[in-house]
Formats: sequence, C-alpha cells, structure tokens
Amino acid sequence: MTKSVELQFDTEIRAASDPNSISQAKNLLGKGQLVAIPTETVYGLAANAFSEEAVARIFDVKGRPANNPLIVHVSSVEMAQDCVSAWPDEADILAENFWPGPLSMILPKSEKISNIVTAGGLTVAVRCPSHSIMKDILGQCGFPLAAPSANLSNRVSPTKAEYVADQLSGRIPLILDGGACQIGIESTVIDLTGQTPTILRLGLISQDHLQEVLGDVRVAAFENEANEMLKSPGQLQSHYSPRAKVIIGEGSWEDLLNKLNKNTHVIACESVPNNWSPDTWHEMPKTVRGYAKKIYETLNRCDQANAESILIQPLPLESEWDAVRDRLSRASIN
Ligand code: TXA
Ligand code: MG
Repeated sequence: MTKSVELQFDTEIRAASDPNSISQAKNLLGKGQLVAIPTETVYGLAANAFSEEAVARIFDVKGRPANNPLIVHVSSVEMAQDCVSAWPDEADILAENFWPGPLSMILPKSEKISNIVTAGGLTVAVRCPSHSIMKDILGQCGFPLAAPSANLSNRVSPTKAEYVADQLSGRIPLILDGGACQIGIESTVIDLTGQTPTILRLGLISQDHLQEVLGDVRVAAFENEANEMLKSPGQLQSHYSPRAKVIIGEGSWEDLLNKLNKNTHVIACESVPNNWSPDTWHEMPKTVRGYAKKIYETLNRCDQANAESILIQPLPLESEWDAVRDRLSRASIN
C-alpha cells in the first residue's frame, strides 16, 4: 500500500437521501473513481466494472490480493447478461426467485469483463442488489459496478457509513450514508459453472432456499491454499476478522465467564448479568435475522472499545444459523 493511496482524499460522508449526493456519486464513478455505497447486505466499495483502471483502484485501496475476484453489481438480468457469456436456465430461475437480493451467481465471463475483475479467472460473479440507493446509482450510471465489501482486506465488513470511514477515510473521495444495512452479512455466492450448483459462500439465502427452486445444490468443501487461484477465495480462513482475538465459548459458559479478564468483551443472546459491566457485554437478538444484522456492527464496536478479546456464546446448531456461524468461526481464526 503506497502512502499516496492513503492520503489522497478528504473523504466526504454524505446522506444518500440528498439527491445531489447521488449525482456526485455518479459523476465520480463515471470518472473512474471509487464510491462507498450501501447495499442490503453490507456497504460496497464501487467502481465502473468496465474500467480496468477503476477496478485496479479497488485492489489498491483495500490492500486486496489480486487473486481474489470481485462481485459485479447489475440493475437487471439484461445488464447481467452483458457481463457473462452463458446464461443457463438455473440463472433464470434464481434471478426470478431471488433478484433483486443477496445472491451472487458465478457464470462464465464475457469479453467485456476484464481479467482484473475476475482475478485472471474465466468466471464472474454477478449480483442484482435490492437496496434503493445502489439501484438508483446503477440506473443512473448505466454500467455495472464492481463492488467488494467496503473494508480493508481481511477486516470486518462495514454495515454503517461510520465503519466504512474508520477503515477507508482518506483513501476514497465519497461515502454515501444510507444508515444501517438491513441484512448485515454478505450475499450467498453460488457457482453455476459446474455439474451441480455449488454454494461457495453461505448467506441469508440458504442451501434449503436454493434447493427448493433448483433441486440438488451442494456446499463447497472448505479450501485454504492462499497462494492458488482458489475455487472460492472468499473461503480464506482469515476473512472477516476484527482486531481483537475472537473466542467461541465452548464448554461451560459460566466457567468461561468467571475466568475472563477485564478487557474481554462478551457477545451473547442473554442479558447482562448483575455482576458484569454493561459496557463490555453485548446482548444480541435471538433470531438469525436480528443476529446477522447486528454481528458485524458489534464486532466493530468491540474494536472501537479496544477490546483485547471477544468471547462469543455458541450459536444454536440449526442449519439456518450456518451462515452466521461460518462468519464467526472465520473471525475466530487469527
Ligand atoms: O453482499 C455482498 O456480496 C457484498 C456487497 C457489497 O454486495 N460484496 C462482497 O464482496 O461481499 P467481496 O468482494 O467482499 O466478496 C466477494 C466474494 C469473495 O469471497 C470472492 O472470492 C467471491 O465472492 N468471488 C467473486 N468472484 C468469484 C468468482 N468468479 N469465482 C469464485 N468466487 C468469486
Ligand atoms: Mg469482503
């Protein structure tokens, strides 16, 4: 990371409800600059997907390894079809059922998508987001937007504009503030290029949801060879980490709590015990949707409070919790 990337901009954070901020975003994107934009999952760091120079900036600003491909955001099936060279029936079925929404489909890339976007691979991820601000900007730009989560590489994905600013201030010209993201964890990624549709990253759209409309759907085996062009680079274990050490509480919960030092924060679905400081106890919603929406924000808050470690109460074992459990188990590997 060069210093010039870090110090280049006096980053503006503007309310996305102001129509001028949308046209400012459109102008910057048209000139090949980057803009952080809210989506229904997490904030994205967007660039014109058809501009190699703009896309290269994303990798610079995030410190993202060149072997980790980007998701291309589109406003319609037609725009998605412009980015891919094949559109199988499964893609139609998934688009009908889950777009706009938190589902990214991997398909063979078209010539319009450069190798930088796909990390040299022959496939591209496309997603049609449902967030009205992202939709507005896509509509105004008329070109697709490559957008990874708007965090530094390997750090927690931001679900509020202030968390984008914490990580990317000075590195980009504009952050659009659209409030808190509704879903809170990244989209489900499904690969449609093999024999059987395969989930590469779990998300709120689950294996069960996908099987209901597609029939057989697999979940990819976990891979962790950092130096290869991975089938699923997002599965790198070190992803989604806060600075604090994350411990998933196993064994007796009471015993664990009794042994903790002062600088440990606790994330649990129970209310704060009488003998505990409310500043270091983060009570979470008991539903998957509620928990997913708050978990990255809570990890961010622990970092902001300079927690040394974070103890997380184990989650329910039901499959609907798989995506959240997946993110937390990655966060626990430092
Ligand atoms: O919800 C989301 O998907 C958010 C918002 C901003 O849309 N975006 C996001 O992007 O999470 P990112 O770059 O943080 O994660 C993209 C994931 C990575 O794990 C990447 O490896 C995987 O998708 N991916 C992208 N293109 C791929 C491809 N062609 N083949 C396999 N995996 C791919
Ligand atoms: Mg990410």
